[in-house]
Amino acid sequence: MEAYKVLIAVISITALSSFTHGAPSYGTASTAEVLINYVIPRRVESAIQEMKNVHQLIKSTKYIQDSLVKMPNLNAQSCSSTQELKDNLAIAYKKLLDFRSPLYMAFSYEEKQGHAHLAAIIKDTSYYLNGSIGVMQRLMTERQFPVPSVQSHSSEADLNQFCREYLQALVNNDLISLVITNDVVKIYRNYLIFYTLTAVNVEISNCISFK
Ligand SMILES: *[C@@H]1O[C@H](CO)[C@@H](O)[C@H](O)[C@H]1NC(C)=O
Repeated sequence: MEAYKVLIAVISITALSSFTHGAPSYGTASTAEVLINYVIPRRVESAIQEMKNVHQLIKSTKYIQDSLVKMPNLNAQSCSSTQELKDNLAIAYKKLLDFRSPLYMAFSYEEKQGHAHLAAIIKDTSYYLNGSIGVMQRLMTERQFPVPSVQSHSSEADLNQFCREYLQALVNNDLISLVITNDVVKIYRNYLIFYTLTAVNVEISNCISFK
């Protein structure tokens, strides 16, 4: 277990130093793979575990844990080996961008609530996600591929509204019994962000597996 932690730390530090200090160009594709296949999924898993420790709502509500929905307004494109590398990289980039501002929303809320450990894990996730966006940008510019312009994201208010309606539908159908406060909405929203990132990360991993 300890050795495993050390390994993860070494991978993280290697990945980190290569995107902060400028990796040689042959290193960036593997840096992206390490971040997306190992570093980010470990953080996402820890964050979800910690949400279950800290929030009774997540811990005790099966309908929420097995959430059947994903965040709205995600990039819906898929990568494939029959597409050009420039398209696959652009899709990976846009899928990562979908999470940049939501991770910040999640971090801000948990920090304000005083959940320091959870906030720290979320901040870490955000840091490595931002790093992956940077690496992806570099992979595209090095190859003279066009970098997609930043998309307009759904706002925090839109995402909260989506979550409120979803929870209300569960209550209306007697699937859960819950008073839907603003805190409940935000706790669920943060869980949904990480739950969705777990799935989307697999898609992103596919995008960068084509060389
Ligand atoms: C990630 O990038 C976003 C947008 O630039 C920024 O608001 C956020 O603070 C960054 N996250 C970290 C951990 O630096």
